[in-house]
Amino acid sequence: METVLSGIRSTGNLHLGNYFGAIRNFIKMQHENNCYFFIADYHSLTTHPTPSDLHSNVKKVLSEYLATGLDPELATLYVQSDVPEIPELYLLLNMNAYIGELERTTTFKEKIRSQPDNVNAGLLTYPVLMAADIIIHRSHKVPVGKDQEQNLEMARKFARRFNRIYQVDYFPEPVPYNFGEELIKIPGLDGKGKMGKSEGNGIYLIDDEKTIRKKVMRAVTDSGPTKMNQEPPEPIQNLFSLMGILSTADTVEFFKEKYNKCDIRYGDMKKQLAEDIIKFTSPVREKIIEIYNDEKYLSKVVKMGAEKARESASKTIKEVRQIIGFKKF
Ligand code: TRP
Repeated sequence: METVLSGIRSTGNLHLGNYFGAIRNFIKMQHENNCYFFIADYHSLTTHPTPSDLHSNVKKVLSEYLATGLDPELATLYVQSDVPEIPELYLLLNMNAYIGELERTTTFKEKIRSQPDNVNAGLLTYPVLMAADIIIHRSHKVPVGKDQEQNLEMARKFARRFNRIYQVDYFPEPVPYNFGEELIKIPGLDGKGKMGKSEGNGIYLIDDEKTIRKKVMRAVTDSGPTKMNQEPPEPIQNLFSLMGILSTADTVEFFKEKYNKCDIRYGDMKKQLAEDIIKFTSPVREKIIEIYNDEKYLSKVVKMGAEKARESASKTIKEVRQIIGFKKF
């Protein structure tokens, strides 16, 4: 059976991008693979959360994972900071990760631009920690969204490098996975780029109906098509992409035709999109709230996950230490 691993950084609530880009695949995979899904709370420290936010963010993502259908009996669900073997492997991998290659990663360069006052070493070595997350269970497949492609390439590089340096065939090279399809990017509502937590352009699983309607009605559009069958510009294409994911094929077809005939009313399209989003999020939202308030259940899940994750992680660390040459006196 192949080992599958993925994680999400706990920096706030999960949005539709997290769900359709990643979690939906986790749910499908948990039945047929040896799955590890975790909450990357060490990674969240790059943005310096307060102690109380750190914990509540983990609790939120955990409740959201469970509410969307991840099953702690099928997959190993755990919190990164419960597994001390991960930072140990991170330390070991750091010795063979080069400043130059880390500085060249797109996400790091973006952070320098977006937060010049907080370019910490944790951001630089983010891909090393991520590689440690993945290879600690010697994972094969990593279901992620398109934005994680480069980080995964780095993880493969570090795994390969370890094997080469020690002349072993120990770590498999983890590959991004989306059931044979292209990795997907869920667009945001601001007319450009992907839906993201920091971009403020997202719809969260926990958003109530009113919030969703308001956000969708405010989505960026333009003054309308001027030529029959013209290619929609990015903001409009983004709305069609969201509809493609959340609405029925008939609905998409209906609005597409109107667009092609220059007869579209964006207000109508947005109203429909909002209702289709609400149809999907409402039951999930109720479940999130229920689970979030069930401390006993959450604590049971976390304990069980940590135990299973550490079993696998400590086996790897023991073998890695041996390969590297640590010996007991
Ligand atoms: N970098 C991922 C994100 O921003 C989170 C993450 C951390 C991850 N470690 C991972 C994803 C390992 C997949 C595998 O969402």
